[in-house]
Amino acid sequence: MIKLIKSSFYHEAETKQALVDFILNEEILSMNKECKKFEESFAAKQGRKHAVYVGNGSVANSLLIQSLMNTGVFKKGDKIGFSSLTWPTNVMPLIQLGLIPVAIDCELDTLNVSPAKLNGYVDDLKGLFLTNVLGFCDDIAGIKKICDEKGIILIEDNCESLGSESNGKLLGNFGLASTFSFFVGHHMSTIEGGMVCTDDDELYNYLVMGRAHGWDRNLSPEVQEKMRSETDTDTFYAKYTFYDLASNYRPTEINGFIGNTQMPYWDEIVTKRADNFNSFVNAMTKNDDFYQYDLSHMDMISNFSMPIICKTTELTKQYKAKFDAAGVEIRPVIAGNMTKQPFYQKYVQDIAPRPNSDLVHANGFYFGNNPEMTKEEINTLCSLLGK
Ligand SMILES: Cc1ncc(COP(=O)(O)O)c(C=O)c1O
Repeated sequence: MIKLIKSSFYHEAETKQALVDFILNEEILSMNKECKKFEESFAAKQGRKHAVYVGNGSVANSLLIQSLMNTGVFKKGDKIGFSSLTWPTNVMPLIQLGLIPVAIDCELDTLNVSPAKLNGYVDDLKGLFLTNVLGFCDDIAGIKKICDEKGIILIEDNCESLGSESNGKLLGNFGLASTFSFFVGHHMSTIEGGMVCTDDDELYNYLVMGRAHGWDRNLSPEVQEKMRSETDTDTFYAKYTFYDLASNYRPTEINGFIGNTQMPYWDEIVTKRADNFNSFVNAMTKNDDFYQYDLSHMDMISNFSMPIICKTTELTKQYKAKFDAAGVEIRPVIAGNMTKQPFYQKYVQDIAPRPNSDLVHANGFYFGNNPEMTKEEINTLCSLLGK
């Protein structure tokens, strides 16, 4: 069986042993110095000024949207574009927080929103919550340029694309802020975990407050002093003053510790997945039963699963059966077209076709791409990608 998710973390046995020792010896297991250390090394490696570690990628998205509302960048009723091919908790926070989601179709050769697709919506949008789908991007530099020209705030959901690069830049570094997921099976796992990165100091302070109840305890002493004096907060109430809307999205030291054990493997994890991707793409290029990708604008493509889009319904049936019979676990491409999901139809009632996302929904599937795959597993998958 070639499963979608092969292990809980990279180098699982050593990581679990280190975790046992850590738990036995550590007094404080709620968010503390391990989480801080993980944030600092993640921000440095990603090349961002700030990183805020949270419980998972979904709450990273919620926290980012809430914080952008708290800073006044987004207001209730603003229209925010998003990639119709994505994960539900990319768009759910938009609906939950009173924004109006606008689904934008993808291109078939990148599975991502392109400048051409975005252009149809630019006059209306206040923001664009772009998903970098499965390690791929379209012309993201072109998207950023359009957003800048039109005053659209670009933010990236990079939960699926750690380590991928375009225009010499890591995905997740094109927008005002970006989110990451460390759920099992993603590039880097902390069991559950998520991150929000930004270079913006004000947004960072709001992310830190929004992650923990809306209080100021995790802010720098200078920012605390400023907030307290602006609100006339006395020392008795200082720890129990809540400055803005928030929740509790904190991770634990256990997750933070795992993050620190995984950080040294970042390059290895990303490169091995990129190598596997190259083998898969070489194998599928010769097969005209599939839509082919055009990712020549990317410098590094690292995905945690390999999407396949068949040209017809009949071929889709045949290839799904072929993968099943070979014991390869497959699933829909992320979760298909969001506008077809019951929650979306309940709250947004937008059923206009997004033809490419519809096709991916109907004719797509993916299998796992894991850095610890054996040569034999890779060969099996490559031969299944032939005719
Ligand atoms: C694009 C995207 N956004 C958000 C998430 C949510 O991340 P998590 O599973 O850590 O909540 C995922 C999860 O796979 C995802 O693919």
